[in-house]
Amino acid sequence: MEARIALLPGDGIGPEVMSAAVRILKMVAEHRGHKLHFEEYLIGGCSIDTFGVALTEEALNACKKADAVLLGAVGGPKWDNPAASVRPEQGLLMLRKELGVYANLRPVRVHPALVHASPLKPQQLQGVDMIVVRELTGGLYFGKPRLREKTPQGERAIDTLEYYDFEVERVVDLAFRLAATRRKMVTSVDKANVLESSRLWRQVAQRVGERYPQVSLSHMLVDTASMRLISSPASFDVIVTENMFGDILTDEASVLAGSMGMLPSASLGNSNLGLYEPIHGSAPDIAGKDIANPVGMILSVAMMLRYSLKLEEEASLIEKAVDQVISSQQLTADLGGSLTTRQMADVVLEYISKT
Ligand SMILES: NC(=O)c1ccc[n+]([C@@H]2O[C@H](COP(=O)([O-])OP(=O)(O)OC[C@H]3O[C@@H](n4cnc5c(N)ncnc54)[C@H](O)[C@@H]3O)[C@@H](O)[C@H]2O)c1
Repeated sequence: MEARIALLPGDGIGPEVMSAAVRILKMVAEHRGHKLHFEEYLIGGCSIDTFGVALTEEALNACKKADAVLLGAVGGPKWDNPAASVRPEQGLLMLRKELGVYANLRPVRVHPALVHASPLKPQQLQGVDMIVVRELTGGLYFGKPRLREKTPQGERAIDTLEYYDFEVERVVDLAFRLAATRRKMVTSVDKANVLESSRLWRQVAQRVGERYPQVSLSHMLVDTASMRLISSPASFDVIVTENMFGDILTDEASVLAGSMGMLPSASLGNSNLGLYEPIHGSAPDIAGKDIANPVGMILSVAMMLRYSLKLEEEASLIEKAVDQVISSQQLTADLGGSLTTRQMADVVLEYISKT
């Protein structure tokens, strides 16, 4: 098959993990006779430095025309001024919105060899295998009005948490379709005891659930969910939730996997075009040192092969290679190992070349 992939390495460790993952992607494509065309663009702080905006029109249009977009990470202390009118994450938010990728899938599995890397007790981590589906283009991060103003009572700020029923329906439906291929359990997470938007969310989730009698649906308040993620993480199969709740819960869930560097994500909409990125940020504290863990980015490439290019075998090949490498305790520094980013990619490549 032939496909166009847009690469947005971004800032900090973004380019380091991207280069590791793209080496693996190129090798798998070559092995299996696929023709991939790569185009690289700036996003985030590096784009602000060069063009004055976090994502150019040209880069955005190229992403829209591609079959899939791979993204590293954006941001860093250089662009952290909260009062600045141009900020790195604007590029990311604009990209998600413009591509219409309303569902962010974040699988969380605990590799048996990494049980020691998590602060949780080993028995709590047994059997952890969940996907968090985070709504990505609505909710608190996009609602209007959003403003800051001086008033006679003092300075005030407003953010808005807004959802239309159709926005909830499409993301919950995707969660049910996923659950139908897994352990057939959906947990819809909200704050329905306080928020009107959550009461709508819950009603719509209930309605969607009726279309999937083979999948069980439970509703859970976000505060309870944050506790249960730590006390009984293996009880979850598919979690679906609002944008900010999902943002927070998935960072919490990353602790289960042993490191932020382990987790991939896929952002999907109604077409095959998807946006694939690790869940971590630009990690300025370790950038430029060749020590970042590239596994989250490599597994994001596997998700891209599965969801956008429909190459399930190739996706599994990469996932198995990563599994095998971790089983043999070949790890980067965040997991107590001594491999560099490049060496981690080398050992994954070596495993793939032998299969
Ligand atoms: N999607 C994104 O691009 C994204 C997401 C989150 C944060 N950010 C931005 O990244 C910058 C840093 O944010 P942060 O420090 O809160 O979060 P972060 O995810 O960049 O880092 C948190 C901690 O995890 C470690 N870490 C992260 N990824 C790692 C990897 N692959 N290997 C080894 N260790 C890893 C870092 O060294 C750091 O100690 C900020 O500017 C923030 O706005 C971007």
